Amino acid sequence: MNNAAKKLIIALDDLNFADCCALVEKTRDFAATYKIGVSLFCAHGPTIVKELKSYGVDIFLDLKLHDIPMQVSKAVEQAIDLEPKFLTLHALGGYTMLKEAAHVACGSKTQLLAVSVLTSMDEEQWRILGFADSVKDGVERLIVMSYEAGVRAFVSSPHEAASLKKLFKNDCIAVCPGVRPADAQHDDQKRIMTPYQAINNGADFLVVGRPITKSADVVMSAGNINAEINKALNEARNQE
Ligand code: C5P
Repeated sequence: MNNAAKKLIIALDDLNFADCCALVEKTRDFAATYKIGVSLFCAHGPTIVKELKSYGVDIFLDLKLHDIPMQVSKAVEQAIDLEPKFLTLHALGGYTMLKEAAHVACGSKTQLLAVSVLTSMDEEQWRILGFADSVKDGVERLIVMSYEAGVRAFVSSPHEAASLKKLFKNDCIAVCPGVRPADAQHDDQKRIMTPYQAINNGADFLVVGRPITKSADVVMSAGNINAEINKALNEARNQE
């Protein structure tokens, strides 16, 4: 598997079970990891995780867990039996929830990934929840709290990846959606970067959905994204 493929995560949103399998089979040379969200998991449960893993790929289980610490710890315990590479949980669940989840996941094959503030949340909705600071400050506060609780991977805009790396002196993993090749539609993504720019700005993993899943030629689209990632990786290596 090439180095670019190791950094590409394809988001399997809006696909049915058979189409997920077909997509994985076609694109697995270009992406090491596939993201299963709550809707796919509600529809198919652990079966879809096991089925996709049988193609030899890793799974990003995007369940965004958020409940009392005991519930989340038990959910993490169950989920890590499926050996996903990443499992998301909401930083808003609080320090104790995060710390206990991190304790459960410690030593497993699964990296916990904290989600701070959903991109669907604007300043007004944030204020209605009772927070006095801005969304931007809230994101940083939640990320620092997650780090203190033992979580080392974060969902981040590619625009924030560099500052995240700086904040934790590179002791963290930035997983970045909001990535679009220059010629792709933006869809509902607002603050995008190209794959090349995102890698240059410190992203460790890129989450790309529709530019691949809705493409008329999924292999070509995934291959082009790999080429951009490789370009950035090679340039970085040559500068070392
Ligand atoms: O199709 P697209 O490339 O926009 O898909 C991006 C994926 O990343 C989706 O599954 C979306 O839910 C997820 N995501 C995001 N922005 C975040 C967190 C997750 O786009 N802040």
